Amino acid sequence: MAKTILITGASSGIGKETAFYFAKKGWNVAATMRKPQNEKELKETDHLKLFELDVLNTGSIQKAIEATITAFGKIDVLLNNAGYGMAGVMEYASKESIQHQFDVNVFGLFEVTKQILPHFRQQKSGRIINISSMGGRVSFPLFTYYHATKYAVEGFSESLNYELNPLGIDVKLIEPGGVQTDFAGRSMNFVEGNLTDYNQIQNKLHNALQGDEAAFPSKPTDVAKVIFEAATTSSKKMRYLVGKDAKMMVRMKKILGTNNFQRLVKRHYKL
Ligand SMILES: NC(=O)c1ccc[n+]([C@@H]2O[C@H](COP(=O)([O-])OP(=O)(O)OC[C@H]3O[C@@H](n4cnc5c(N)ncnc54)[C@H](OP(=O)(O)O)[C@@H]3O)[C@@H](O)[C@H]2O)c1
Repeated sequence: MAKTILITGASSGIGKETAFYFAKKGWNVAATMRKPQNEKELKETDHLKLFELDVLNTGSIQKAIEATITAFGKIDVLLNNAGYGMAGVMEYASKESIQHQFDVNVFGLFEVTKQILPHFRQQKSGRIINISSMGGRVSFPLFTYYHATKYAVEGFSESLNYELNPLGIDVKLIEPGGVQTDFAGRSMNFVEGNLTDYNQIQNKLHNALQGDEAAFPSKPTDVAKVIFEAATTSSKKMRYLVGKDAKMMVRMKKILGTNNFQRLVKRHYKL
């Protein structure tokens, strides 16, 4: 019997590519998104269904899980992928924008996980794959809140794995470096302000990131392949770094330690 994956945020980027990839590999795919009525590329088949799911709406999460079980009989893997980035000076972010960043990247992921667990517990199996980031292991300037959400996902996943393993369920983390998706465009919320104290760091970072294609070396398919490996392996490995940038950054921080790593990043951005 074909296995089933439920993906959040399948309308674009990593989520969409993963939906295509798993379908090609013969899996049943529940490609969930906020507006399935707008989806043009993913076509429904007997093995691929589009369901509405907004990670901020518990009712929609429950309905999408039920609809997936009705369509495919069960769910084997949950891919918590929906998320976006907030960048800019920490002081410039409104309480509402900080809340929203955490609602989507953290509390939404908690809620989807919580809603799927009764099904996984009942069948005594299931795998939760959380899309974190290299930004959940190392940090860069002007991404305070985004890093905070991904570090939160890391800690949550590590701890959760302990309580779920005895029930036949496990948790894995995917940690991509820069990936060529809508993330740096549509999905990036730059907060703005005009305190002169921050002009220097803002200008330097802005100039450094402008048109920096090298900052996004991986393609969504590279991530989809690693997600497939994480979904199908019998290994207990928990963390999967994706991309040469992610592997290099995490290794450098490990070797150099936090202080020297920060020194290196400052030197890179001439801060
Ligand atoms: N691209 C990178 O460089 C990179 C690197 C490391 C980690 N990541 C992580 O990878 C994940 C996917 O990002 P991506 O790069 O594929 O960017 P993307 O193409 O912009 O995709 C983001 C997805 O999240 C969805 N989403 C946003 N808010 C949502 C909500 N409330 N409920 C359900 N879905 C929601 C978006 O749906 P709509 O179409 O409805 O807006 C979209 O499908 C994110 O968690 C991101 O943090 C990305």
